[in-house]
Amino acid sequence: MSLIPFSSLAGLLFFTTIAAAAPSRDAEKPIPPTPEALHSKLAQISQNPAMLSTALKDGQKAASVCRHCHGAGGNSLLPEIPNLASQNAAYLLEQMNKFVQGKRKSSEFMTGMIKALTPDERINAALYLSRQPIINRLVVSSAQSATGKQMYDKVCINCHGVSGTGSDKIPRLAGQQIKYIEDSLKRYRSGSGERVDARMAGYTRNLSDADIQNLAAYLSTLRP
Ligand code: HEC
Ligand code: HEC
Repeated sequence: MSLIPFSSLAGLLFFTTIAAAAPSRDAEKPIPPTPEALHSKLAQISQNPAMLSTALKDGQKAASVCRHCHGAGGNSLLPEIPNLASQNAAYLLEQMNKFVQGKRKSSEFMTGMIKALTPDERINAALYLSRQPIINRLVVSSAQSATGKQMYDKVCINCHGVSGTGSDKIPRLAGQQIKYIEDSLKRYRSGSGERVDARMAGYTRNLSDADIQNLAAYLSTLRP
């Protein structure tokens, strides 16, 4: 008899034992803070000028590695990479947590970079980026954007707001890269698991590609 079946059986037993033991109290590792705890910390810092000023300095440092893709001060120069500048801080933090937890999928590289930040650095980077201005771009209305506005006012305005600024964990869309907006709507619509949110899945399910283009054209006319 070869050893292989035995060792794989032993391996299986080993992992089964580990898996069964995993949920019990793990005395060695500190328990990572829950997303709720991180969000209350972010809210607490936002309301305290002294803490905020320290956090913004640390956040600028932490976010400097993100510049290669997201641009200086979170102003992306690439159409498929989102602006992080002026995005709502709670939303930025929530999305970073989603990447870390595997609830949102992107390149391994970016996920790795976010994982390399400590929870505090994530909070501080979110605060810093949310306070950077979006560099003004030329915005042009068209027949397409007018059609998009009709749909936005009917379907999206309740959550994302009249000026597309969102709030708290609902993202700002005004000033966002137009190609990225289109890609994101298609990711929710596809149900592929790249982006999972029950609300956005529901609101994108019946959108055609033309609807998505019209909505993106309208959103690009909103002042950041
Ligand atoms: C290699 C390029 C790259 C680097 C470096 C990078 N990102 Fe990203 N980031 C992306 C891309 C591409 C997306 C869009 C991914 C998607 O939606 O699937 C994204 C999306 C995001 C989002 C979601 C934005 C939104 O509007 O939902 C956040 C937050 C984010 N990145 C934070 C960071 C932070 C913080 C860093 C630095 C620690 C960083 N990224 C470094 C490429 C990068
Ligand atoms: C019920 C509230 C609600 C409605 C209505 C809604 N959204 Fe959203 N939207 C959200 C939330 C919450 C998120 C963040 C979800 C996540 O974590 O991925 C989001 C995310 C998005 C994103 C991704 C932004 C980014 O930075 O990655 C886009 C684009 C978007 N919505 C566009 C729309 C459009 C266009 C409509 C109308 C067709 C719409 N939304 C309707 C709540 C809503």
